Amino acid sequence: MTKFNRGIIRKIKISIKPIQWLYLRYFFKNKIHGTFLGRGMSQTKLAIPLFEKILTPIDFKRIVEFGTDGGVLSHYFLLFCQERGAMFHTYDIEFNAGMAGITNNFHRIDIFLGEKEIGEIISREGITFVFCDNGDKPREFNTFAPYLKKGDIMAVHDWGTEINMGCIKETCQKYNLKLILIKECKKEKLIKVFQRI
Ligand SMILES: C[S@@+](CC[C@H](N)C(=O)[O-])C[C@H]1O[C@@H](n2cnc3c(N)ncnc32)[C@H](O)[C@@H]1O
Repeated sequence: MTKFNRGIIRKIKISIKPIQWLYLRYFFKNKIHGTFLGRGMSQTKLAIPLFEKILTPIDFKRIVEFGTDGGVLSHYFLLFCQERGAMFHTYDIEFNAGMAGITNNFHRIDIFLGEKEIGEIISREGITFVFCDNGDKPREFNTFAPYLKKGDIMAVHDWGTEINMGCIKETCQKYNLKLILIKECKKEKLIKVFQRI
């Protein structure tokens, strides 16, 4: 950066008041983080349009979500399941007040300790959609992908920051998991979607 540019940036910084900084931060945060029913999710604005692309054409029988957090995305999944007469299960080790409304679908559990129980749900008859968004995505993907059946779909969040192909390559090869909706994921940026073929 040239001396001239640095000078301009310093001048801009000085002329913006703290309250204006707060507004700018709020503005950009909301540009990056999507909302559902007016509440903030830990997902981008393009995440729900991507889930619509994944879920609309398939006759899924259940959605399994790892990492409920405030439960905002969970409400979206729950409504989609109700619309289709499918089951919804969401898991988190923490309890958050925002989960009210999904209490019947929420399981407070460390997913790795509950592997057998969750694996049994994933492998039930009919298409399962699994969304991985807990604290250890590579472990989560590698632990639960083996329970997917032909046609099941697993999407994973924080692609490129917490997980990449190197972490899951062997699992993808062993269980025949292929990337789908590649173009849509490129736009959304943080989610990758795999289907067992
Ligand atoms: C990034 S947040 C999930 C965000 C949520 N999917 C959304 O879109 O709003 C990750 C969550 O995973 C939970 N978590 C971390 N490790 C876990 C584990 N081993 N088992 C279950 N939940 C876990 C954390 O408590 C946290 O609430």
